[in-house]
Formats: sequence, structure tokens, C-alpha cells
Amino acid sequence: MELGHMIREAVGRLAEAGIPSPQTDAELLAAHVWGLSRGELQAKMVSATGGVAGGAAAQDRFWGLIDERRHRIPLQHLTGVAPFRWLELRVGPGVFIPRPETETVVDLVLQRLRSLNAQGVVHPRVVDLGTGSGAIAASIAAEYPAAEVHAVEISSEAAAWAQLNFQNLPRGASSVTLHHCDLRDFAAQWHSDSVGAAPFELVVSNPPYIPPNMVPIEQEVREHDPEVALYGGGPDGLDLTTAVLQTAKQILVPGGWLVLEHAEVQADALAALCDADPLLENVETHNDLTGRKRATSATVQRAPHGAVQRASGRTA
Ligand SMILES: C[S@@+](CC[C@H](N)C(=O)[O-])C[C@H]1O[C@@H](n2cnc3c(N)ncnc32)[C@H](O)[C@@H]1O
Repeated sequence: MELGHMIREAVGRLAEAGIPSPQTDAELLAAHVWGLSRGELQAKMVSATGGVAGGAAAQDRFWGLIDERRHRIPLQHLTGVAPFRWLELRVGPGVFIPRPETETVVDLVLQRLRSLNAQGVVHPRVVDLGTGSGAIAASIAAEYPAAEVHAVEISSEAAAWAQLNFQNLPRGASSVTLHHCDLRDFAAQWHSDSVGAAPFELVVSNPPYIPPNMVPIEQEVREHDPEVALYGGGPDGLDLTTAVLQTAKQILVPGGWLVLEHAEVQADALAALCDADPLLENVETHNDLTGRKRATSATVQRAPHGAVQRASGRTA
């Protein structure tokens, strides 16, 4: 079957099954099977010959993948990769698929790192609590290589994906140290493991935050993102978010900064929680690209005398 015709047929089958982006998914699956970029595939679709190599076996594979996608297996599990900022992360069963809104959280982190640099903090220490595929930590390591990046993850399956992604960072990126543990225990572990218990300048987290009564509508999320990555615990889903705040306060340098992703409906509650905390100040809510309140940041109070404690040897 000619390529353009095959894609049209696949788009029809996916649309009929209610897949929200049938054209994109059909093209990305075809590009995956034939080892092409999406642009190359599109060029072939409009070319006079319109053919691709690989014969019947490749076509069978393509229709098999279209069938799996019709049954709501996530596209990223079928291609094995998820784009995130400049990276192509390896993903699959057992790990949360990174979302575009989290890219905005990384922007906030990078802004903060640049302002720290202007203040003379050249090699800031950063930790990503609940790293999943490693999307946030890997992006920071790639886009701000002067940072010393750590990542914490409780799930063995997710930690294995993160490790794979950390081993395949682009040339020039800094390395990421993975801590396979509960983020609630990380402060104690960090202080006992690290010589001098050097504090962090920045904590970032996209923790699980879905409340128990808000089961996701999308079958791909409900059935394929791991539960441990989705539900935050407690009646409002904010138990793990609160745990991130507790850990951050124990590992941040005075004046250190934390930023958390959350659901839009949780923005006001989380801001109130931070405002009520005597150790937190400069609480700010941040919008995502669609104008929804999807992240909150705060600084941990400076020591009363105003001195900034910093690990030795890391300033300019
Ligand atoms: C919403 S996912 C975010 C993953 C990744 N940071 C991202 O933005 O794509 C939350 C992650 O936190 C991890 N997690 C859940 N509870 C945790 C805990 N108590 N300690 C450490 N990690 C945890 C989950 O396994 C999951 O990988």
C-alpha cells in the first residue's frame, strides 16, 4: 500500500477509536517503524513515489502498533520515547510520561539558576524530588551544566528509566546523581551520607498530586501511568506536596528556593499552606503557557542575621 494512503487509513481507524490526535499519532508511529523523522515521513507522503522500504513485515508492524494505539496504549509506550524540552527521553511501562506543562517548571528553575549566577553562585546544587523518567533533572543537567544535579525516586521501575536517561544525556551536560529512596527520608539520608551535609540551593518537584476523587478521564493515564506517580494522598491530594515542603526546608540553604508543580485547583490551598509556614517566604504562584496556576515557589527564610550559608568551594 502507498504511504500516503496507509497514513490516511490509519488516521481513520484512530479517529474512529476516539484518539484525540489521530494524524500526529499515525505519522509518529509510521516514522518510528520506518526509522524516519516525522519531517522525512511527511516529505515521502507528498513525493511522487510515496513509498517506504521494509515490505510486508514493516507494514504488519505498523498496523500492529495502530491497533495497540486504538486500544489506548500510550503513544510514547509504543515508540519508547517522549520528547521533553530539548531531550528525547526513554519511557515505557512503570514510569510517568512527562507532560508539556512541566517544561514551564524547568523554565522557572533556569531563570532562578541564572539569577543565582548573577549573585555569584556558580555551581548551584539542585535536587528533583520524584524524578520519574528524570525529565526535570535531565533537562537541568543539559541546559545548565554548571549545576550539580541530584534526583530522588521511590519506584524501582521509574528509577531504572531515569538511570537510563541520565546515562544518555547529551554531550556537555553535567551528570545526575540518582537517589533511589522515599523523598520523605531524603533529608535524613542526605545529612547522614554527605560529608558536611552540604545544602541545596534549589529544590524542584512535580510530585503526585491528584486527589482521590479525581480519577483521570484519559484511559492512557488511568491505566498506564503508575498509581504511585498520580495520587498525592490525603483528601486534597496534597500529602506528598506537603512532604516535599518539609524535605525542602531541611535540605535548602537559608534563602534557598523551591518550586512545585500542582493542579490548578490546588494553587490557592498550596499558597495558603506556604504563607502560613513561618520558615517560608516570597511565596509566588506561576501560570503555565495556557494561563493556569500550575506551579508555586517560595524561599526558605534566611538565617536571622542575614548570613547565607553555602557549601564551601562552590561560589565564584
Ligand atoms: C507526577 S510524577 C513526575 C515525574 C517527573 N518528575 C516528571 O515531571 O515527569 C511523580 C513521581 O514521583 C514519584 N514518587 C511518588 N512518591 C514518591 C516518594 N514518596 N518518594 C520519591 N518519589 C516518589 C513517582 O514514582 C513518580 O515518578
